[in-house]
Amino acid sequence: MNDLAGKHIVLGLSGGIACYKAAELCRALIKEGASVQVVMTEAAGQFITPVTMQALSNRPVYASQWDAREPNNMAHINLSREADAILIAPCSADFIAKLLHGRADDLLSLLCLARPIAQVPLLIAPAMNREMWAHPATQRNLAHLQADGATLLGVGNGFQACGETGDGRMLEPQELLEDVIAFFQPKRLAGQQVLVTAGPTYEAIDPVRGITNRSSGKMGFAIARAAREAGAQVTLVAGPVGLPTPRGVTRVDVKSAQNMLEAVMQHAVSASVFIATAAVADWRPATTAEHKIKKDGTGQCPSMGFIENPDILATVAQSPRATAGALFCVGFAAESHDLLAHATAKRVRKGVPLLVGNIGPATFGHDDNALLLVDERGARELPCAPKLVLARQLIADIAGRIRVSA
Ligand code: C5P
Repeated sequence: MNDLAGKHIVLGLSGGIACYKAAELCRALIKEGASVQVVMTEAAGQFITPVTMQALSNRPVYASQWDAREPNNMAHINLSREADAILIAPCSADFIAKLLHGRADDLLSLLCLARPIAQVPLLIAPAMNREMWAHPATQRNLAHLQADGATLLGVGNGFQACGETGDGRMLEPQELLEDVIAFFQPKRLAGQQVLVTAGPTYEAIDPVRGITNRSSGKMGFAIARAAREAGAQVTLVAGPVGLPTPRGVTRVDVKSAQNMLEAVMQHAVSASVFIATAAVADWRPATTAEHKIKKDGTGQCPSMGFIENPDILATVAQSPRATAGALFCVGFAAESHDLLAHATAKRVRKGVPLLVGNIGPATFGHDDNALLLVDERGARELPCAPKLVLARQLIADIAGRIRVSA
């Protein structure tokens, strides 16, 4: 996707066993289009060699404030001025304390202090033992660092190199990559609470069988990610899909349409935007058998009655908060043909200001899609692109509509 094309990242390594993850992170940043300048502390050099980091970043590594390779002998000025962001990963407890006090006795801390604070953001990926992480000194230092303008990327939880289990692990390279990409996205939905439904629903026939559909959930998950990247607090109500939860998104897993309705109604009370991408089953079996329905050997098939499922989107769109303009509702339509006509009619039927049409067979399970945005004035096409690209375009569009109606 090249989400970091044109971005120059100074990747700072301080001393910690998580330095082994920094190698993978460096690759991931470069694969996403960034150029990476690695700067290591002396302690980082105990855990990983500059050779590895130079080979991965395709640039000589800097480690000393006395590095004479720079014509002006001011690596701390030059490196910090050319960066779009400085990312310290891993950031040790000691290095956090150092940053907090503005100490500058090695190149990495020196360039952090020397960075033009308004133009060059400082992102911190801490890594340490769980006791060090939980220590009041570390927590106090981190709070102060954030107040000084640094962005804290959080830590993971789990088994630690020391053999203990808890908070303090460095986030995985892919998680950090997602956070760095999100950091650079415009915060168009800051302060908004976005509720998204995604995936299929599963309507049980008996304990082992059910009715579902081919929705992969990819479009809805991409929209949840794009909304979070845009600064919103996001709740994702997901039908049964095997997709990973986007970073920073609160996920509520549901099965049936009725489960989905309950979860949505619970969260809609605090949402300001509702985007319904789920392929909700239109009908469910009238009864769910308590035990597996067995063949009886006669060749007779069981008969099955159906009940129509509640229309979640229409229900939310008719709620007082939505009709009062406090909750902006967006529907989706997966059609097989005549997209404009069907999407236009569906927008009116559902009572939503914006309906997004797509061709069902062309989107289910695919990584690319094309969208048709239909509102009361007409339609706008978002041509075929990766779902995350379309999701960001849709979020930008929705943000513009909220601004206008605010
Ligand atoms: O009626 P249809 O299923 O084509 O409508 C699609 C739109 O309505 C989607 O936004 C979908 O998430 C939503 N929907 C819903 N509850 C249903 C059926 C559809 O929220 N029972």
